[in-house]
Amino acid sequence: MPQKLTDRFGRTVNYVRLSVTDRCDFRCVYCMAEDMTFLPRQQVLSLEEIARVARNFVSLGTEKIRLTGGEPMVRNGILDLVREIGSYGLRDFAMTTNGSQLATMAEPLRKAGMHRLNISLDSLDADKFHSITRTGKLNQVLDGIDAARKAGFRSIKLNTVVMKGRNDEEIPELIEFARRKQVDISFIEEMPLGEISEHDRGLALCTSEEVRETIRQHHELVPATEDSGGPARYYRMPDSPIRVGFISPHSHNFCATCNRVRVTVEGRLLLCLGNEHSVDLRRVLRANPTSDNKLRQTIINAMDLKPERHHFSTNGDVQILRFMNMTGG
Ligand code: GTP
Ligand code: 5AD
Ligand code: SF4
Repeated sequence: MPQKLTDRFGRTVNYVRLSVTDRCDFRCVYCMAEDMTFLPRQQVLSLEEIARVARNFVSLGTEKIRLTGGEPMVRNGILDLVREIGSYGLRDFAMTTNGSQLATMAEPLRKAGMHRLNISLDSLDADKFHSITRTGKLNQVLDGIDAARKAGFRSIKLNTVVMKGRNDEEIPELIEFARRKQVDISFIEEMPLGEISEHDRGLALCTSEEVRETIRQHHELVPATEDSGGPARYYRMPDSPIRVGFISPHSHNFCATCNRVRVTVEGRLLLCLGNEHSVDLRRVLRANPTSDNKLRQTIINAMDLKPERHHFSTNGDVQILRFMNMTGG
């Protein structure tokens, strides 16, 4: 029986989000600065190091791994890493992606052992999509979503960050799209990660309550009974099999039941999305190339640093300096 990771508040940590790159082919306004500089290669964990981190978490009771970025698919050798981690017998193995490469990569990913995909989709209007992602092409992502549906993943979920004046008018179209494609969709309140200049996050904030009100003008929403165990609260519509999720860092936190930690592509173990507490795993990995004992002990000890809760706010009180692409969505 593998050992379990638990923190000071009695929470079991069995879900790890591993960032495999800080790079991305998009420059979404809420995630990155337009002239973002990326990490030099020696600061980035190798694929072998990432797999070593994953393997040790699994030996400490991790049952679920999600690969994030940046955009995971821009990392060279990503399919090899998916194949390797896919062989660890995880209950759940998932990826969060912008979908730009899925038209060709969905099937290889599925075959390499990936179970589930979350795909970002903020607009169905090509111009608006381009203005939010700065470099993205809507058609590529739509083709990617279709390829993912054909590839037979256990589940596909769309993620939409809702921003007033940018895409809040499109909520009904996005719901119709998800219903037609029969995929779940989550609407996300923007989080204050990194300094951005394109819009005022306070003014652009569209609360989950506002999004629900808009949807209710077209569809009945019934709270789903099952607990997602994650940040999303789900609803169902009586005439569709899909779930509609709401991720509301400003008005709702799931901190009391948080089961997750993150590892950045630099090998920093982040104990909470909304705090700066972290532990340097890269130093331990590289100082102990042949034994995992120190790495495992460092991970176990790090659990004591997991804070009770995050303290996001829109009034500038708490501003996390890390950008989302450095954090690992
Ligand atoms: P599951 O792994 O199925 O729970 O998916 P998820 O919805 O957590 O993952 P995804 O990568 O699609 O993230 C969707 C949104 O949830 C993003 O905006 C994330 O930043 C946010 N999110 C993920 N983890 C956390 C967390 O620990 N705390 C908070 N507040 N938000 C999170
Ligand atoms: N606030 C909320 N969600 C964000 N994402 C990226 N940056 C932010 C932010 N500042 C979302 C992306 C993706 C997921 C990994 O996180 O849209 O769906
Ligand atoms: Fe996650 Fe931090 Fe919130 Fe806990 S407090 S749920 S670790 S973001």
